[in-house]
Amino acid sequence: MTLEKQIIGPNATIRDALSTLNAAAIKLCLAVDASGKLTRTVSDGDIRRALLSQGTMATLISSLPQRPPLTIRQPATDAALQDLFNAHPDVNAIAMVDDNCRPIDLVSREKYQPNLLLSPPHIGLAEIGYVQQAFDDNWIAPAGPNLEAFERALAQVSGRNAALALSSGTAAIHLALRVIGISPNDRVYVSDLTFAASLQPILYERALPVLIDSEPTTWNMSPVALARRLEKDSKDGTLPKAIIVVHLYGQSADMASLLAISNQYKIPLIEDAAESLGATCQGAPSGSHGLLAAYSFNGNKIITTSGGGALVSDRADLIQYARKLSTQGRETAEHYQHSEVAYNYRMSNVLAGIGLGQLELLANRVNKRRLIFQRYRDALSNTPGISFQADPPNSVGNRWLTVITLDPNIVHKHVYQLMRYLRAHGIESRPAWKPMHMQPLCSDYALETHSETDIVSSRLFLQSLCLPSGSNMTWDNQKRVITAIQNFAKEIE
Ligand SMILES: Cc1ncc(COP(=O)(O)O)c(C=O)c1O
Repeated sequence: MTLEKQIIGPNATIRDALSTLNAAAIKLCLAVDASGKLTRTVSDGDIRRALLSQGTMATLISSLPQRPPLTIRQPATDAALQDLFNAHPDVNAIAMVDDNCRPIDLVSREKYQPNLLLSPPHIGLAEIGYVQQAFDDNWIAPAGPNLEAFERALAQVSGRNAALALSSGTAAIHLALRVIGISPNDRVYVSDLTFAASLQPILYERALPVLIDSEPTTWNMSPVALARRLEKDSKDGTLPKAIIVVHLYGQSADMASLLAISNQYKIPLIEDAAESLGATCQGAPSGSHGLLAAYSFNGNKIITTSGGGALVSDRADLIQYARKLSTQGRETAEHYQHSEVAYNYRMSNVLAGIGLGQLELLANRVNKRRLIFQRYRDALSNTPGISFQADPPNSVGNRWLTVITLDPNIVHKHVYQLMRYLRAHGIESRPAWKPMHMQPLCSDYALETHSETDIVSSRLFLQSLCLPSGSNMTWDNQKRVITAIQNFAKEIE
């Protein structure tokens, strides 16, 4: 970096500062006096505020409201810089100065604080031991002691009789459909507000998805929409063969209502619990309510095997069939015997070792993510226009991701503007899932809305943002996110 490119002189105007910022690598100008002493720093935000309060391009920078520049005296240790960045979560760069307060360097936060990610893996101490054991025993295979132990532990954690560890959550949903016997042109209802993986396996089987809107409390499948659609399809003789209910962001759907409705029509319910491992609903684990449930251990989930998933059920016969389908449908014989289309979906014994170590930490990870949610809510709930996904009675979410909603009647900015603002401060955030009915992939499929006047899923998508929620996020880092959001909100006012 050439420091000269960041510096503006005592007579610099807003126009000079803007063209300097435009060309500078770090978006901060260093304003100096005639002796070269740093008088202040100028950011995009300073200029925006000046222009909004009657400033013009010709306004002198020296006439803007003064605030002392954030500096550090050279030589500075990395630890001192780190502390200073921690103490000023909204600052992106710090000017390094000599004894006479002349700037000699500009240090960007990026260099000292890597970008804050949405939900990175959080590995503990035990995982490596299980993986090492697999290496020591040469169990580098989609079978072995780690895998068996992981499946036993998964069955226990999900409150089920049987579990099958797989290569992904998507594979688990696919096998759930296969063991139920979904065929081409069968209808399968699925939550509209979800990640595409909930729906894709329906298409693998050439079956027909029917998209069911969310309800506003849990953001999950609307019992009202489900009941209405089933009533209609029952009259038309077009009832579905299965219903896939997603537990979004770790918050269980209203399973009592959904099960009561699906049982009335005897339609099997598959839980897409990819995001909700460790959550509970009516005192029982999320994923223990439907006929079958799928979990994901993708790298961004509450626990991970780097990539992986599981199918669980109380019906050991279904899990046994899924196990067969996950191993190319190989039948019991001394030779290789196959009678049906099947897959290579098994998890490896090495990855199951990571899973075993991670499962030991599940309760800790849930507590940490719930604490992160609580801190966001405590810090931001007084900010007008910001609200959170609810915590309905009888349900304890794992708060896999904290998601905020901006009320467009109060906050006159789009969530994407907040997302870009956070990105500029080295913070990753993501829009809520884009509903399936808005996806080109689903243009041919029906949507049953929650009410006649409101599509809840698209409203949530357009107004919501997922915040960094990783269980390894420090409080200092979370403060960075909170301060950035508060400053964004102030700029709106
Ligand atoms: C709701 C939902 N369903 C299914 C999946 C698929 O899981 P996987 O990535 O393990 O295939 C995911 C996550 O990726 C998800 O968030």
